[in-house]
Amino acid sequence: MRAGFRSLDREVALDLEVRGELPDWLSGTLVRNGPARFEAGERKFRHWFDGQAMLHRFAFAAGKVAYRNRYLDTPALRSTDDGRIGFGEFATDPCRSIFGRFFTRPRLTPNANVNVLLDDAEGDWALTETPIAVEFDPDTLATVGLSKRDHAVPGQAHAIPGQVTTAHPHVAPVTGDLVNYLLQFGRRSVYRVYRQRNHVREVLAELPTDRPGYLHSFAVTERHVVLVVFPLVVNPLSFLLRGKPFIENYRWRPELGTRFVVFSQEDGALVADHRTDAFFAFHHINAYDAEGRVVVDICSYPDAEVVDALYLDRLRGDTELPLPFPTRYEVDLTSGAIHSRRLSEEAMELPRVSYRAHNGREYRYAYGVSAHGGSRHDFFNQLVKVDVRSGRTLRWHEAGRYPGEPVFVAAPDAAREDDGVVLSVVLDGATERSCLLVLDAGSFAELARAEVPHAIPFGFHGQFTSRSYPQ
Ligand SMILES: [Fe+2]
Repeated sequence: MRAGFRSLDREVALDLEVRGELPDWLSGTLVRNGPARFEAGERKFRHWFDGQAMLHRFAFAAGKVAYRNRYLDTPALRSTDDGRIGFGEFATDPCRSIFGRFFTRPRLTPNANVNVLLDDAEGDWALTETPIAVEFDPDTLATVGLSKRDHAVPGQAHAIPGQVTTAHPHVAPVTGDLVNYLLQFGRRSVYRVYRQRNHVREVLAELPTDRPGYLHSFAVTERHVVLVVFPLVVNPLSFLLRGKPFIENYRWRPELGTRFVVFSQEDGALVADHRTDAFFAFHHINAYDAEGRVVVDICSYPDAEVVDALYLDRLRGDTELPLPFPTRYEVDLTSGAIHSRRLSEEAMELPRVSYRAHNGREYRYAYGVSAHGGSRHDFFNQLVKVDVRSGRTLRWHEAGRYPGEPVFVAAPDAAREDDGVVLSVVLDGATERSCLLVLDAGSFAELARAEVPHAIPFGFHGQFTSRSYPQ
């Protein structure tokens, strides 16, 4: 699987050879994001999350698949062209002189390598965990430009300040607003949950905090926004005093427990703020309102060791991979009791659901990457589909193959929640080439695969749009 952590310099645009048969109805575009350059001259990025962003687009029409890939053209990428690391990434410091280390403020990286937002109203953006989003042209994948640091648009009176956000904005299921938060570091740091419509942001709720946690995603229901604050926390002064890469300022403090903070979406009121035993996660699966409770499903790790396990030298070596399990947390809004149970005994990471119909609502099926046989001695090498009601789990596995995030695409006339397909970029470790795998979401049987002429480095997230673009 080492080819999945190797730089890819080729940029191509071509039709892929398809084996099998794509459904007639499958028409539209999958855009995926992920790191594709792991060094700058002699210097190497240290962590999977640090590599320079590349977009990969798979366009489906009339049983064919066209593929195009392109680097995001950011100042961070350009500095690597010059053999320098110009911006601090998640776990890699920029090249700085001793003087620069102490007397210049660290610049927020524009290396938007985590996710994409494809939105008819808000535009097409590559996203990361700094508030700098990068707009791209969906036709050519060419970079259009960087958002302002605060994503302010002309005429917007009050930009929302902050240094950290998530690359996992939600579409609120009832209002259709885009929801996310910004974290502003300070003597008193503040999470600000905001909603966005027609490029205008409005603060919905604020949560002051002395020790902000590292949160990679959050959840919405029909009525609530849920921040789950894991006890991987930072003293913001550490950024100034210690001079370490971003995540290495954070400390695992299990005695703090994991905190569930629930806000009303209607007026931003704090509805609940309760703690349970410490656990860690990158990804929420889904959440919904139930009688007097909020149900929150999360790919849950016992601790934050996974952050260390994803350093590239460990991933490329022979190391143990901590495995997350799909876990349900039911938060009683009155008593504060939090009950948890596993939804499956199969590991699950990079979870997806039938988002448009079921985000924030009761649902039945979750899809994710997993580890065949529960082995911790390989990378994610299996896809799973979990029925969260029954725990029944379906698997897709082929020896030596490494699938990425499975993106669910609903059939246009879907009668059942799992009427549709699942799309996953799969690396063949032996041939060092990737393919786009298409599974029937109901049966998890293979329908088709489209062969890509190179190894696509392991990416993070992608989105499907029914829009089509010329090649
Ligand atoms: Fe993510």
